[in-house]
This record gives sequence, structure tokens and C-alpha cells, in this order.
Amino acid sequence: MEPSKENLFKYKGFYFGVDTTPEYLSTLEDFEIKDSDVFLVTYPKSGTVWTQNILSLIFYEGHRNGTENTEIMERVPWLEYKTSEKDYTALPSPRIFASHLPYYLTPRGLRNKRGFIVYISRNPKDVMVSHYHFSKYMRVVEEVPDFNLFMERFLAGKVLASSWIDHVAGWYSHAEDFNILFLTYEEMKKDLRSAVLKICNFVGKKLSNEEVDSVVRQATFENMKKDPRANYEHLADDVVDKDRGSFLRKGTVGDWKNMMTVAQSERFDSVLKEKLKTLPIKLIWDINEEM
Ligand code: A3P
Repeated sequence: MEPSKENLFKYKGFYFGVDTTPEYLSTLEDFEIKDSDVFLVTYPKSGTVWTQNILSLIFYEGHRNGTENTEIMERVPWLEYKTSEKDYTALPSPRIFASHLPYYLTPRGLRNKRGFIVYISRNPKDVMVSHYHFSKYMRVVEEVPDFNLFMERFLAGKVLASSWIDHVAGWYSHAEDFNILFLTYEEMKKDLRSAVLKICNFVGKKLSNEEVDSVVRQATFENMKKDPRANYEHLADDVVDKDRGSFLRKGTVGDWKNMMTVAQSERFDSVLKEKLKTLPIKLIWDINEEM
């Protein structure tokens, strides 16, 4: 079963949501990169909003101390989903962008090691389950109510951002081309403070201990859930169905166990098994696992 054309289109072998266009995407190759730019790159449902918020809190004092009431989507706009007429070249430095692009569709400047890329990955069963719930909430994402069918779509890469393994393996195997920091959702969950410090070190941002504490405090699931600047709750009713979910849903490691049967989990493993061996990271399927 193919994805609905009302929701997705393919550009250079990769599935995009219909809120961007091939014309705009074709300009991104030449998108001018500044050395101070920071790009947050993820496969969908891997902790993008979470890390958007962390980056915003790290860089913007007015966000950190609560004196400015700007939404994170404004502070960390989407590169390939440019929803407003906003001129990205006019944003103050350092510019921070979010993106789901695969490594091969990124601006040329990034592939020449300019700017900073923070890449977040998450175990694919939690990604898939999160995506399944997300499709009920987000009107532009096609809902496939039958979970079995949705899993087959996910495994075949016939969903937003195409195949999970191709995205993650592509970025890891081309790490040498980029100035990139890899983090996982699970390590952020286990030790958020260390993850925040790793990001600060990587982007060269010095924060005091108190400032780091403040970032960590405001980036916990519970506090983000309450923070209208950080939880995407400003999205309009024609974009999301607020009665059927939210961007911050459960925020845990291992929720896939509540959704997938043993047979589904085995089917999932059998499809990805060989490819997973090629990834240079140990995937964490349960929060109690050793990292
Ligand atoms: P769940 O659906 O498993 O709860 P993305 O932002 O890439 O769409 O990812 C969404 C996932 O990140 C959701 O996972 C969401 O709950 C989780 N998330 C968002 N903020 C979080 C936070 N502060 N801590 C932990 N998880 C968070």
C-alpha cells in the first residue's frame, strides 16, 4: 500500500510532507551556510522538539530566564518546511535550524564541514510507535489505523522521511563529511545534564553551572509539557487534533512494549537485523539496559 499523495511526496528518493515544495527543496543545495550555524537533524519522532527546546534554552538567555515569550519553532525554524515568508538569511547569528533531511540532501556548505550539526537518534521501535500515535494527532500525517499495516509501511520506508535505517545509517556512515555530534534519545533520557554539556562543548557555548541547571530543569518532559513556548501547542486546529494527542506524549524509553506483540517485534527484528549490525551504536530498547 502506497502512502497517500495528499500527505507525502517524493523528492530525490525521500518522502516529504506536503507543506514544502520540490521548488523550494531544490534551492537548499545552495543554501548559504555560516560557520556559526547550528543544525539539529533527526528522523521524525526521535526527540526533535525536545532538542529544539534545549538548543533554544542554551543559546537564548531570554528563553532561559523567561523574559521572552517566543515559541521554539520561531527560534529554531525548520529548514525544509519554511512556513512563513521569513528571510532565513536575516536571522541573527547563531542561526539554529531543525531538519529531517537525509545527509545527501543537505546544503553543500554543511557537507564541507561548515556549521555544527547535532544529530539525535532513537531506538526504531519507540520511533515507530511514537509515529503511529502522532499520525492520529497531526492532520497532515496520514493515519493508518491498522498497526500491523503501519508497521509494514514503516519498515518499507513508505512514511514521512522514508526509511529509518537509511536515515540513521546514512548520517553515521558520512560523519566524516560533517562537523557533527551524535547523541541518542536514550542517553538524553538517562542523563540529560551530560547531554546538555556535550552540546554546549560542541557548539562552544559557555554556560555557568546555574545556567546549565536551568536548561536541564526546563527541558524535562514534565516542565516542557507545561511550557507553551516549548510544546508546540500553538499549532492551529486545522493542523492538529488536540483531542487525539500532543507532541509531548509519553516521553519514555521502551513504550514499544506496550504496543507491539511478540510476533510484531520479531517481524521487526527480522527485517532490520542485518542492517542494524552495520550501525556503529548500541541501540537501547529498555531504560534498564546498560549503555
Ligand atoms: P513519544 O511519542 O514516545 O512520547 P519529535 O519531537 O521528534 O517528534 O519526537 C517526539 C517524541 O519525543 C515523543 O515521544 C515525545 O513525547 C518525546 N519528547 C518530547 N519532549 C520530550 C522531553 N522533554 N523528554 C522526553 N521525551 C520528549
